[in-house]
Amino acid sequence: MIESCKTIDLPRINDPRGNLTFVEAGRHIPFDIRRVYYLYDVPGGAERGGHAHKALHQLIIAMSGSFDIHLDDGRAKKTVHMNRSYYGLYICPMIWRELDNFSSGAVCMVLASNYYDEFDYYRDYGEFVADAQRIGK
Ligand code: TYD
Repeated sequence: MIESCKTIDLPRINDPRGNLTFVEAGRHIPFDIRRVYYLYDVPGGAERGGHAHKALHQLIIAMSGSFDIHLDDGRAKKTVHMNRSYYGLYICPMIWRELDNFSSGAVCMVLASNYYDEFDYYRDYGEFVADAQRIGK
């Protein structure tokens, strides 16, 4: 499960006028994009996330600045430091994630496979781990 969460090296068109990166659904990421949202003006010391999704696929990109993403599939954990706007972290369903250590001016953009749906969330870690371990058996 956690092995499916990978850093994707997105295409880069380097140009003295400024660099360009693009993301194509189904080509660079394994899902169609239905929603884009972003976190910005995050105060120092704040934590975001603290939930898992039942079915949602996401790609997280540090558009500016840096932050850490802590991933947990109910068995294994890993932390990824995000600090380049040409790297995307793909997060598959059933992964608990927490984001912290935001730098000043950080912008976290998320490409998501579906519309916002509160019923797709696990907001209770114990409930998430119980289901993740049951499904993983
Ligand atoms: P949440 O996903 O808990 O934020 P984070 O994980 O980044 O800390 O969402 C925070 C609030 O924003 C919550 O009330 C739901 C709302 N929200 C939407 O209305 N639409 C969205 O696309 C997202 C991501 C959140």
